[in-house]
Amino acid sequence: MKSRHFVTTLLLGGVMFCAMPLAAQTVKVGFMSTFSGPGAAQGDQLDKGAKLYLKLNSGKLPKGIKVDLISRDDTGANPDVAKRIAQELIVRDKVQILTGFVWTPNAAAIAPLTAEAKVPYISMNAAGVNILNLSPYMARVSFTLWQSVYPLGQWAAKKFKRAYTAVSDFAPGHEAEEGFIKGFKDGGGEIIDSVRIPLANPDFVPYMQRVKDAKPDVLFGFNPAGKQATAMIKAYADLGLAKAGIKYIGPGDITTDEELQGMGDAAIGVITVHHYSAAADRPANKAFVAAYKKEYGQKLNPGFMAVGAWDGMDLIFYVIRAQKGKIDPDKTMELIKHYKNPNSPRGPIAIDPETRDIIQNEYLREVRKVGGRLANVEIETIATQLKDPWKELNKKK
Ligand code: PHB
Repeated sequence: MKSRHFVTTLLLGGVMFCAMPLAAQTVKVGFMSTFSGPGAAQGDQLDKGAKLYLKLNSGKLPKGIKVDLISRDDTGANPDVAKRIAQELIVRDKVQILTGFVWTPNAAAIAPLTAEAKVPYISMNAAGVNILNLSPYMARVSFTLWQSVYPLGQWAAKKFKRAYTAVSDFAPGHEAEEGFIKGFKDGGGEIIDSVRIPLANPDFVPYMQRVKDAKPDVLFGFNPAGKQATAMIKAYADLGLAKAGIKYIGPGDITTDEELQGMGDAAIGVITVHHYSAAADRPANKAFVAAYKKEYGQKLNPGFMAVGAWDGMDLIFYVIRAQKGKIDPDKTMELIKHYKNPNSPRGPIAIDPETRDIIQNEYLREVRKVGGRLANVEIETIATQLKDPWKELNKKK
């Protein structure tokens, strides 16, 4: 009797053991973006790109491995808030990877934390050229401003003689200004004046009036995409700069795809250089845009920040797969340095193992009406597999 009971217990135990799922390996990823305030449109792009990737790819992870995306609102370019949230994510939530980040000031503020806690960080947008030098645990899949504006400056010098620059007054704006001026002057162009516009609550009208009065051939502009891009183009058109023959050019941030339809005809003819256009006809991009529209609405285009988030998640999935879900910070950074994706929606990309920054193509584009809708039409690949030009030009000899 006793032994029968023992056998039954054994059998039941065995059945219960088999029915229990394998212990799940959950990778905790801290995702910081902007969900409130004037920068919420940019944050929404990161959120949409990351969530779409997760939805379509989570099922493809090896059995038992799960990604837990823990989202936090940094409320905008607010370094103090960013620091507090990153601390909470690292200490309380015990995230193994930090990602998201629209804003350079926030990324710079949390850099020391990634080094102290050894938490790998992947920038989905924050583009400031110096960020990755602040911690060996940081890498970037987005871009630097120099990647777009330096080739644009060289191109513009062949078409225009006198340029005026107008940029947002924060680190990425300063870098856009410096990179464009270097390219434009190296090509023989002249800068007649430069202005920096406050990042918070800018009124573009007085600045556009000053540009109009100065009568340059070309206006180079930069603002942090989102609603500011639309406001600046509208001020440019409303004050008659286009009619006065002043061409508007800049990095792709000024005609970001998710805002483009709202810019109206004022945007037609604007020339930009960038790594991503929703209108690009690469098969990987067509599939991405179709999936994005299916998820979020047929009228909505993904912008470059949505693609940054998509590619960032792809990089995270790659390090998870390679380590079977057991994230080791140093191993993760080594893996990141050798990441390549020949099929990103933006074209082929890779991480530069020396700098942990992105290598990608840059395209010259013009805003045109295609089938009744505005599009950033890619005209040519102006730079192929370009490393950050600032770091290349400033390499210690
Ligand atoms: C940044 O803060 O790095 C940033 C934000 C918006 C942009 C580009 C760069 O469009």
